[in-house]
Amino acid sequence: METIFIWYGHAAFGLTIGDDRILIDPFLTGNPAATVKAAELDADYILITHGHGDHIGDTLPIAMRTKALCISNFEICSWLSAKGVDTHAQHIGGGHSFPFGHLKLTPALHGSALPDGSYGGNPVGFLLTTPDGKKIYIAGDTGLFGDMQLIGDEGIDLAALPIGDNYTMGPEDALKAVKLLRPRRVVPVHYNTWDLIAQDLRAWKTRVEAETEAEVVILKPGESLVL
Ligand code: NI
Ligand code: MN
Repeated sequence: METIFIWYGHAAFGLTIGDDRILIDPFLTGNPAATVKAAELDADYILITHGHGDHIGDTLPIAMRTKALCISNFEICSWLSAKGVDTHAQHIGGGHSFPFGHLKLTPALHGSALPDGSYGGNPVGFLLTTPDGKKIYIAGDTGLFGDMQLIGDEGIDLAALPIGDNYTMGPEDALKAVKLLRPRRVVPVHYNTWDLIAQDLRAWKTRVEAETEAEVVILKPGESLVL
């Protein structure tokens, strides 16, 4: 089964796993890096790591139009469900099997207020095991934490890690995260969207590949890779 991972810029992703189309943190409207419009995207599922506007983004209009099932923590699911979209709530440490694979929510060190100021619960990351056993870790917005070592014990094929600094890990801590997670491939995200999170990814790639076994894949917004 082919799994296609696409980066839409910032921390917005798409996954195609078999016939299932999954969006993660679909922030497109107002995203200076986005190469697609929300109205152009189809989805069967939408995964949301936390309530900040640059993550929940266009979730509501896309879910309303496509009837996609929204998956997040309990608090964000309650907020979305009150607005009339279908949801599936989980929480940190909890896993559930969907047609596209087994999804577990992982910790993230960050905030999660929703755009209207509502409480968005704890921010999360996602550990997805596809039906053919590939492991994808989406860290979400987070600082470095030592339990990445435990997540790494799963045998990560692809890790998407924030690297922009200021709001999340910067390059130094993201390198430490790679050492804890030991992924086969890393896609850095959450950088260069705005000047405040500008980073030199070429230098980081060279350093990570010298100090770890991981391959750093620098995507341009709209580019994809096949797992
Ligand atoms: Ni955030
Ligand atoms: Mn963010």
